[in-house]
Amino acid sequence: MRKRWSTRTWRRTAVALSGLAVLGMTSVVIVPASATEAPRTAFGQPHAHDEPLVIGHRGASGHRPEHTLAAYELAARMGADYIEPDLVTTKDGVLVARHEPEIGGTTDVADHPEFADRKTTKSLDGTEVTGWFAEDFTLAELKKLRAKERIPELRQENTIYDGRYEVPTLQEIVDLSRRLSRQLHREIGLYPETKHPTYFREQGLPLEPALVRTLTRNGLNRPNAKVYVQSFEVTNLRELRRQLRVPLVQLIGGSGAPYDLVAAGDPRTYDDLATPEGLAEIATYARGIGPSKDRIIPRDAGGFLTEPTTLVDDAHAERLVVHPYTFRAENTFLPADFRSSADPAAWGDIFAEYDAFLATGIDGVFADHPDIAVAAFRDR
Ligand code: G3P
Ligand code: CA
Repeated sequence: MRKRWSTRTWRRTAVALSGLAVLGMTSVVIVPASATEAPRTAFGQPHAHDEPLVIGHRGASGHRPEHTLAAYELAARMGADYIEPDLVTTKDGVLVARHEPEIGGTTDVADHPEFADRKTTKSLDGTEVTGWFAEDFTLAELKKLRAKERIPELRQENTIYDGRYEVPTLQEIVDLSRRLSRQLHREIGLYPETKHPTYFREQGLPLEPALVRTLTRNGLNRPNAKVYVQSFEVTNLRELRRQLRVPLVQLIGGSGAPYDLVAAGDPRTYDDLATPEGLAEIATYARGIGPSKDRIIPRDAGGFLTEPTTLVDDAHAERLVVHPYTFRAENTFLPADFRSSADPAAWGDIFAEYDAFLATGIDGVFADHPDIAVAAFRDR
């Protein structure tokens, strides 16, 4: 298997610094040298590793309703290196895990008559959205709701868990990662994403102060913490760069533009961010990119894979790690090359997809089925 681009360099440094790293880990589980960092600057470096990192995308969201403690726990038990909470905020400023501010698609809020009058329409990054919004609920109110499967038509098996799990807070996720780190004898990393930072700032509920406070309070705001912080926007990552010592990851959408740039009248798009010049700029504040996987191996009009782009090599030239999203086993998400049938919910040959992307030199994957990613990378 192709080595991660800087593994040897980091490993040499990791051996030299492992003692120092351990000294810095006063409030979390002590882990091997793989979680140490190179001393390039005051803020965190990507973590050294041999195989691509497995990031449990929204937990093991292919197996449980997303963004629940059950989904995160299963991801960790399946071998994920990191669990990935997307973060929004409640009315009283508590960070909770949801993929978007609107919570009607992933909770049973519509079944609660006491919240019927909270249904409203808002402009979210320039798009009108109707539903119920996390920031209109206190944490106590949100805790009355229960999570449900987002895509029951594709993941019918997951619907048996509907109604069983709460919307978790970031603190509960940190606590879970610590408990699992102790039980599993390996550190479970956290890979939080700030969702719609400009939107929440406009609502008077910016996400960043609570994120910095939570990481700091838990002893995780340090360069060798097993934490990455990610965002689709640029401005808030630049600001977080001044407040956080963990590595940051710039997400790069498959199309469109970061909404903070749109709102500021800045014409740059995600295409611009993915150029060598854009990557050089990202490297001034981030340690990695999280691109749509189609930016690494684009698909043709029929959905078949084409030739890889130079994005991975270009990013590595800037010492940026590359963690593409999102790998899912269902046919509907797979390249046409690897679909098993016309049934969108049936699973296709995701191992072949992983092989194709591994050959490009990627450093990690956001995976809805972490067990399959682990099998693809470690059982070879
Ligand atoms: O954060 C990486 C990936 O999760 C981005 O996509 O929309 O699933 O948050 P999304
Ligand atoms: Ca995400």
